[in-house]
Amino acid sequence: MKPAELTRFRALLSAHLRANSGPLALAAAGMAGYAAAELFAPWPLKIIIDHVLLAKPVPPALGPLAPLIARQPELAIGIVASAILVIALMKGMFSYLQVFVTSRVGYQMVHELRRELFAHLQRLSLSFHNRSRAGELLTKVTSDTNVLKDVFAGGLLELLGHALTLGSMCVVLFLLNGQLALVALVTLPLLGLTIFSIYRRGKSSARRQREREGEVAAHIGEVLHLTPLVRAFARESAEKERFDRESSRTLHESVRTARVEAAAGRAVELINAAGVWAAVMIGGLLALRREISPGDLLVFSAYLTSMYKPLRNLAKLSTQFSKAMASAERIEQILSTEADSANQSGGADPGELRGEIEFERVTFGYDPSKPVLRDLALRIREGEHVAIVGASGAGKSTIASLLMRFYQPQSGTVRVDGRDIRELDGEAYRSRIGVVLQDSLLFGASVAENIAYGKPDAAPGEIEQAARLAAAHEFITALPDGYDTVLSERASTLSGGQRQRLCLARALLKRPALLILDEPTAAIDAESTALIHDAIAELQRGKTTLVIAHHFREMDRFDRIVVLGDGAVAEQGTHSQLLARKGVYWELYHLQQLAEEVTP
Ligand SMILES: Nc1ncnc2c1ncn2[C@@H]1O[C@H](COP(=O)(O)OP(=O)(O)OP(=O)(O)O)[C@@H](O)[C@H]1O
Ligand SMILES: [Mg+2]
Repeated sequence: MKPAELTRFRALLSAHLRANSGPLALAAAGMAGYAAAELFAPWPLKIIIDHVLLAKPVPPALGPLAPLIARQPELAIGIVASAILVIALMKGMFSYLQVFVTSRVGYQMVHELRRELFAHLQRLSLSFHNRSRAGELLTKVTSDTNVLKDVFAGGLLELLGHALTLGSMCVVLFLLNGQLALVALVTLPLLGLTIFSIYRRGKSSARRQREREGEVAAHIGEVLHLTPLVRAFARESAEKERFDRESSRTLHESVRTARVEAAAGRAVELINAAGVWAAVMIGGLLALRREISPGDLLVFSAYLTSMYKPLRNLAKLSTQFSKAMASAERIEQILSTEADSANQSGGADPGELRGEIEFERVTFGYDPSKPVLRDLALRIREGEHVAIVGASGAGKSTIASLLMRFYQPQSGTVRVDGRDIRELDGEAYRSRIGVVLQDSLLFGASVAENIAYGKPDAAPGEIEQAARLAAAHEFITALPDGYDTVLSERASTLSGGQRQRLCLARALLKRPALLILDEPTAAIDAESTALIHDAIAELQRGKTTLVIAHHFREMDRFDRIVVLGDGAVAEQGTHSQLLARKGVYWELYHLQQLAEEVTP
């Protein structure tokens, strides 16, 4: 991607700069003041040498000083020398103002960029998140935004400040002596060229460095998340080696970037020294012939030496700028990924759901060329309790995902209450559905907060009631702090069945008109499963309930069982009807019975 394509990032940036135009103007004033103070720095010494010590005629600008110099040269020296302190004080104050204001604007920018990025990530499709590694996204949201702060808030102003200092110094040099200025400044284009080429090289190096850092972060995240797996398969040393390899490649890139940066600084120093050398030599000769005054020579050498600082900073800024461009490109990549239409707000408010579901000739595949569901037709009446069964990978969870509008079908329509769910406001629609996903996903927050996730204003009594219905109350009260126990990340301190019960309580708490449970009791014993099904039957009476089941326990409770095969409905009916048919269901049922007899 070329910088010219950073459209969204630029829009964000310019909005931010516009919003902060007041503070930025203040910082710009500070910067101008600083540049002026820099410019005046060598002048007190020049005045003392030329007009006090060498008694050259005083220029009209310094008119009031002339009589003082003539009568009391000691006092004149004292006054002029004090100007050095005043200038230093001004420099300090102005640079403080500039640094303080730009840092504030910069941190604000990081904050806003992060907010925007995070919100955008939430809007992106699940397919995007399936493809990305969380660790890499994490570096984009945290460190890339930070890199930008230094450049786009302070850096651009600093750049202007340095350019201003350099420019005004050049003007003064030409006013003092055009010839000498020309000689002294011949090195300037060479310097510009060096900086430019270093910038180009630094940019690609910085981009590679940040990419590698993202990979390392992703790897750390993954391995830490899967520590039990790594242990169980005795892969610690293999993982360590993989990490070492990745990290050393990062090291290589970082060292490269640092080397380019260091080389930039030294090159600038050397070229600058050449300029000072030429100016001092030729200026010295000119002063010998009395074509310039010793004070002028002093200003020349002082300016040329101090030009080195803004120049070196420009070189440093240019590498910083290239780092920032690499970060901006990475951020742009996220921002320019179209938000999932299904995730955008807008669309009709679904209102209260009745819970009538229809899949009309739905074809869907995560990879469109490999459909998981083919022309699926399925109708569920309001208030019906339906179980969906089928072999692993048949597409049961996919049906739940489509119903939740996590993905869009390639063709066909999913309707709820007769309305195409694509036309509904995604967030409002989902907020009316209770769901237990196949993976028990929990936050590292308290038990109560996890249960109340879909209904944050729930009263403690409601939370407890939901937990009781999900057969979770007993184990929760046995936890050290009961409902206030804070779970570890991903609730790894709970058993699989306990996690499932919490997820179930979370879904039941919402009292949804439509409840979707994806294998809610897979890790729960038969006795509790029966209790949970009792609770669901009671709670969801007259409300549509869809249960995806792997295990054929409690099947006679359902109004209808849908058997999925080859991406479509293979059979449907009640438990006894299906058994009587001696078809797919009968086969699956008996296979499971058999398996259970072998491994009770
Ligand atoms: N996020 C995904 N990205 C790509 N392919 C997927 C994704 N999720 C599932 N699949 C594929 O889609 C097919 C159907 O998966 P699905 O999860 O719907 O099966 P399932 O019937 O729920 O199986 P199980 O009983 O094992 O949970 C599988 O072949 C699976 O590999
Ligand atoms: Mg599944």
